[in-house]
Amino acid sequence: MTSEDIMEVALDLAHLAEIPRDSGIHVRSDSIKTVLATVDCDVSDLLMARAFKCDAVLTHHPEGAAGLHGWQVMRNQIEQMVECGVPIARAEAAIQRRMEQVELANHARNYLRVVQAAQLLKLGFLNIHVPCDLITRRLIAEKLAHFNDPNSRASVADVVAALQEFPEHRAAATTPQVRLGAPDRLAGRVAVAIGGYTNGGVEVLRAYFDAGVGTVLMMHFPDGDLREAREQKLPGNLVVTGHMASDSIGINFFLDELQRLGLSITRAGGIVVP
Ligand SMILES: [Fe+2]
Ligand SMILES: [Fe+2]
Repeated sequence: MTSEDIMEVALDLAHLAEIPRDSGIHVRSDSIKTVLATVDCDVSDLLMARAFKCDAVLTHHPEGAAGLHGWQVMRNQIEQMVECGVPIARAEAAIQRRMEQVELANHARNYLRVVQAAQLLKLGFLNIHVPCDLITRRLIAEKLAHFNDPNSRASVADVVAALQEFPEHRAAATTPQVRLGAPDRLAGRVAVAIGGYTNGGVEVLRAYFDAGVGTVLMMHFPDGDLREAREQKLPGNLVVTGHMASDSIGINFFLDELQRLGLSITRAGGIVVP
């Protein structure tokens, strides 16, 4: 397979027409048969790929230029909020602060280090971020769809139990945590706020609650924003699903497809393999 073929498989599975800014082919290759897959990639992971005689490394989190410009994908969260009933102008305003924070942090990144190492080691190198997260989002949303029945009187604990049905969540050392609200509260309408580059912070959480969502799911949430949400007693539940476990759901789905297409894949670098 070529690097472009691999990217195309991910885009198809995520129903995307073009490569999002947080993903990219950093060192292209025409004949990939063996791949080392990882959640995060450092030079040591590349050396491991060399030791295993892999042709390419496929990492999840953004590298290279995708690490600089990927924050623009946060605008996906506007659509996600609008889907849940947040007015569009409110949704756009809610994501602003967090987008600025992330852009500021990313601007200082040593974005080229790992890409350069891959070039020097003559390894194919690509990162596929939001396509995998959109797969995670879809699979979780499908599993939790019944909670959105207006007659549902399920609790937040029921939502957590449903999440635990994923093999990745069962296999992971983390468990989903109710960071705001409580397990015995009514879950209400559930929003899966995943697939928007990173979490949207407290303003996005507030926008969901104000739109009538009872429980928001995110992979991770910043400490300062959580404190703010608790101090302001935001009226809803936040379930932090577990970063590696939830990233692995979409990554494994994608890698399974690549395997079906004939690639040999070594899963490493923190991918939770059930
Ligand atoms: Fe992810
Ligand atoms: Fe992640």
